[in-house]
Amino acid sequence: MTEQPHVHPVRDDIAANAWVDNAKYLAMYQQSVDDPEGFWAEQAKRLDWIKAPTRAKNTSFARDNVDIRWYEDGTLNVSANCLDRHLETRGDKPAIIWEGDDPNESKTLTYRELHARTCQLANAMKELGVKKGDVVTLYMPMIPEAAMAMLACARLGAIHSVVFGGFSPDALAQRVIDAESKLIITADESVRGGKQVPLKDNVDAALTRKGAEVAESVLVVKRTGGDIDWHEGRDVWFHERVDGQSTDCPAEEMNAEDPLFILYTSGSTGTPKGLKHTTGGYLTYAAMTHQYVFDYHDGEVYWCTADVGWVTGHSYIVYGPLANGAITLMFEGVPSYPTHGRMGEIVDKHNVSILYTAPTAVRALMAHGDDVMASSKRDSLRLLGSVGEPINPEAWEWFYRVIGNSQCPIVDTWWQTETGGIMISPLPGATELKPGSATRPFFGVRPALVDNEGHLLEGATDGNLVILDSWPGQARSIWGNHERFVQTYFSTYDNMYFTGDGCRRDEDGYYWITGRVDDVLNVSGHRMGTAEIESSLVAHDAVAEAAVVGFPHDIKGQGIYIYVTLNDGIDPSDELKKELTQWVRKDIGPIASPDVIQWAPGLPKTRSGKIMRRILRKIAANETDGLGDTSTLADPSVVDELIANRATH
Ligand code: PRX
Repeated sequence: MTEQPHVHPVRDDIAANAWVDNAKYLAMYQQSVDDPEGFWAEQAKRLDWIKAPTRAKNTSFARDNVDIRWYEDGTLNVSANCLDRHLETRGDKPAIIWEGDDPNESKTLTYRELHARTCQLANAMKELGVKKGDVVTLYMPMIPEAAMAMLACARLGAIHSVVFGGFSPDALAQRVIDAESKLIITADESVRGGKQVPLKDNVDAALTRKGAEVAESVLVVKRTGGDIDWHEGRDVWFHERVDGQSTDCPAEEMNAEDPLFILYTSGSTGTPKGLKHTTGGYLTYAAMTHQYVFDYHDGEVYWCTADVGWVTGHSYIVYGPLANGAITLMFEGVPSYPTHGRMGEIVDKHNVSILYTAPTAVRALMAHGDDVMASSKRDSLRLLGSVGEPINPEAWEWFYRVIGNSQCPIVDTWWQTETGGIMISPLPGATELKPGSATRPFFGVRPALVDNEGHLLEGATDGNLVILDSWPGQARSIWGNHERFVQTYFSTYDNMYFTGDGCRRDEDGYYWITGRVDDVLNVSGHRMGTAEIESSLVAHDAVAEAAVVGFPHDIKGQGIYIYVTLNDGIDPSDELKKELTQWVRKDIGPIASPDVIQWAPGLPKTRSGKIMRRILRKIAANETDGLGDTSTLADPSVVDELIANRATH
């Protein structure tokens, strides 16, 4: 990028009231990296501990001993930190404002109400046999019961595994089996954009898969009253089991390193991995980042538009905000329903101060022109945030000018499922903004750039983004497979956590994330492994081989481009393309829908048989002038054929 970015200085009105200005950021950052032990010991005091930790950090990134522990002799309960401790000071203040898919439906739960409901649910879960250390799978709509279920697990010391409600029965089954989850909490149906999604039917289908019978009970919230099948002895209505329970349920004393949740995410190889997050460090980090990055002040309405099925929903709808006693808005629907003005209308309706959303949502609105926001004023907004994928400067400026009325700083927050919380981001009172840059590291985070051999690179440069030392929110392992955790994140470069992202650092030390450098796609902010989509396709009878790559997509950021080699005797046809599209949607979920399928009589391979994805990416992006070195190809004519028959999109 040679073009000079348009710099947005720190606003005086924001800096005057912010938790940190630039001088304070610099001083605190320095302290956090010079003395992590002292810095994080102090930060732990933001939580209520049953037994306060005597030591903060005990971590090793050495590949023969990856061992990450924070506050390891401390004990606490996460649910008590998000609920009980607020009862005295803000029991009757809102905790969750829920906005339904239907604009006429909304409700508010105070901290006292959320606490009572969470206790009732926890008591019901106990009756269903849930104990400390058990895994409970949540496959839920965006309704307050989802937050309650997470908090109820935390209360009992059970480990939640939230599976995004858009995933297929097979994807759900895979996660239930991997985690050996005995209880599933779901709803009859979810509602998004006026349409019903059959969650309970999907659970029924998932539980017919081999191995999924580990799930003994299914607790079902009645959301729509739609028709569902009922399995006596296994299925339990939420209202029947929960509503009569006591509103008192003691919170289990947990060690800081006991697991809080598992969250599955895609990597470049194999099946999705369940990242394991623990309690004390995670909550300290989620709460602290929520306070500083969003410059959260008491009484403000804060809205993160993510789904609880993703890590953003975990850390920044539920845990960070509730630990801080914040008012967190939870939205069931989609920004385009009933009209594209919905997001702004929700801001006005609930007086939202802070809006945290995804570049793909911004680009989708931008495509409708500035008038799309005409139905709202949005003058309650003070701060905007972006997450999930790089935001292009054009979308950034539109977000700033049209949604934020040119009044609100934008925090472009870079982080990952693995990092538990925000890692690189502006702080609104401290950081000059450059559209498209996530800017500078959060306290305690030591990003660095390395070349492919792992040499540290200095100054303004491009490289692979690594993190040099641990931070409290970091995932501790992969569920049931620590070796895979070590392999994936700590074996590429010695003593460093490898993020999988490419990045540029500019003259001011600002970080510009350029996207994944591995075989992971980011489609509308949803993370997917090319290998997962490929293995789904080759399971189809017609398919001999498949290669999946991403290509630049105006709204989704990346689209999915698939090259398919058919088995001998199978004729390519548009019907077959449709069938394969349905196949992948059914197998993984609608988020994995292919954008383009190209028939490929042959794929470009090296002489040792490795598919040269670099070339396939170039063809998909229509950058066929600069294919680079093709001399190692076993059969270069394959490439000419693919270029000649390139599919349009
Ligand atoms: O490539 C980066 C991209 O999303 C990946 C992490 O995806 P996931 O684990 O699903 O978590 C998403 C929400 C935290 C990263 O490796 N990514 C995330 N945020 C940004 C981003 N890329 C650029 N800029 C961001 N702000």
